[in-house]
Amino acid sequence: MVIERIPSGIPKLDELIEGGFVKGSCILISGYPGAGKTIFGFQFLLEGLKRGEKGIYFSLEETREDLLDDIERFGWKEIILEKEKEGKFLIHNILPSSIDKISSEIIRYTNLLQPQRIVIDSITLMENAWETCQDIGKLRRSIFSLIKELKSKKITILLLSEAKKDEIGFEEFLVDGVIKLYYLAKSLPRALQITKMRKTKHSLELIPFEITDNGIILKKII
Ligand SMILES: Nc1ncnc2c1ncn2[C@@H]1O[C@H](COP(=O)(O)OP(=O)(O)O)[C@@H](O)[C@H]1O
Ligand SMILES: [Mg+2]
Repeated sequence: MVIERIPSGIPKLDELIEGGFVKGSCILISGYPGAGKTIFGFQFLLEGLKRGEKGIYFSLEETREDLLDDIERFGWKEIILEKEKEGKFLIHNILPSSIDKISSEIIRYTNLLQPQRIVIDSITLMENAWETCQDIGKLRRSIFSLIKELKSKKITILLLSEAKKDEIGFEEFLVDGVIKLYYLAKSLPRALQITKMRKTKHSLELIPFEITDNGIILKKII
């Protein structure tokens, strides 16, 4: 069976994962605030745009305006605005509400635009929206069925997630891949670690990376 892969948009990362993310898979990008999750997400979507694919950035966190401000520095704002006009891209803000409302909004916009790639920023806020109800079983089932539906449309999904200390969240079981973004200490470089990637041979090493004016760049891989 041939596994179709799509480039991640992060230079050199694809070499470490047999050529890219498995098409139609769901990858969790986890890290503390400032780790580079949003930048990673935009690089992933921009790579799709370069290849004529469509993309949506669903944000429960930052507003559309703040996100556009963030990416202007990298020279991405103009491309995004242009592609939005062409109907190939969307930054869509979702107000935190019940998990079912969030899910149906994601599905509705996905059906409208029919993207090949989407980013959901963040699953942590999706879960928080549900916290008051405390029915963790229902939360998991809802997130699981949302992901299942998106994957059935062959969409490749990046789920951004706030890192939890020394704890494996249920999301890590749910997804096909997990990439952790770390900043370890002042004197050490940022590093990422691929801790799970179904159907893929990969190492568990810490891979140093930098955030530059061009976005995330992996440093020399030993
Ligand atoms: N031009 C730049 N050069 C270097 N680092 C940058 C640049 N722009 C942003 N950063 C770094 O990226 C961080 C923000 O990344 P972001 O993807 O928004 O993080 P997250 O979404 O994980 O909270 C900033 O805190 C800063 O450390
Ligand atoms: Mg962010």
